[in-house]
Amino acid sequence: MRDSILKALQKQGHVSGEQLGQRFNISRTAVWKHVKELRRIGYEIDSSPRTGYSFIKSPDLVIPEEILHGLHTSIIGRRILYREEVASTQDEAGEAARTGIEEGAVVISERQTRGRGRKGRLWASPPREGVYFSAILRPNLRPSQIIQVPLIAGVAVCKGIRKVTPLEPRIKWPNDITIGGKKVAGILAEMSCDIDTVDHIIVGIGVNVNTQCSELPEPAREIATSLAERCGEYVSRVRLVQSILTEFDALYTTFVASGFNALREEWKALDNTIGFWVKVSDVNEEMKGRALDIDGEGFLLVRKENGDVKRIISGDVSLIGRRN
Ligand code: BTN
Repeated sequence: MRDSILKALQKQGHVSGEQLGQRFNISRTAVWKHVKELRRIGYEIDSSPRTGYSFIKSPDLVIPEEILHGLHTSIIGRRILYREEVASTQDEAGEAARTGIEEGAVVISERQTRGRGRKGRLWASPPREGVYFSAILRPNLRPSQIIQVPLIAGVAVCKGIRKVTPLEPRIKWPNDITIGGKKVAGILAEMSCDIDTVDHIIVGIGVNVNTQCSELPEPAREIATSLAERCGEYVSRVRLVQSILTEFDALYTTFVASGFNALREEWKALDNTIGFWVKVSDVNEEMKGRALDIDGEGFLLVRKENGDVKRIISGDVSLIGRRN
């Protein structure tokens, strides 16, 4: 009901309590209670005895009412689970996945107290500044194909940002999203599988949107940037989430139908790794070489100094020399 009243107010600009009451078959007092609740969560709604209620402004909270308003995805984001604060959206999404929630459901929060990044790192998640969400996917994949899902999520994040800002982020393999060499977004994929089949994958996406990076803890402060810092103006988190979900949904649909190879060129068009001298660090070893390409399965091909070409499955990649 609250959602319907909000939609009516947003659509009509202003409307009286009586009209709303008639339309939804509730009393004027009930309308007033819903408006009060909308104000409590940050909507600006004026009221005057002459014109009734007037919609002024949304609070840019990443609540389902806002995100679902005008979102037309077929799988990802059809259901949004909103939490004001969580330890990590990954944990909440994992829990929801285990209880059988449908594919594409998304857990989103204004704040994470224990947001995590790849390799067990912390993902600083200050309240209402960034975007923090996890999507539950159930693709029919072998565990070896799992790397491909965060790769396409990276493309979705880049395209999503490009659609709502003038910025041109790029991807550092496998899925660091960077602008001017600094990290603006990251993707963490966690899966549950048995020997040869994947049950579900939780794809966590964190974007520094209006984040004041100078306030972030070390080492993020040094290596991170935010969209607002780069484009010099406030960026709507709701529009950004809608944009990323829309892109992710379209890419994921292609991926499920045709596989990663169908999206490889799109990934390469946004890539900022191939051609660079890179250092690759893994738990077992560190190596240097030139990043040559990604293959049809999404692995990075690196030519080592001794001429051998190595297929990199996971690890941290740093760019150490210019492309040529
Ligand atoms: C990385 O680049 O290290 C990955 C960062 C992923 C952060 C997101 S924020 C939403 C989701 N919840 C988490 O705890 N982590 C991911």
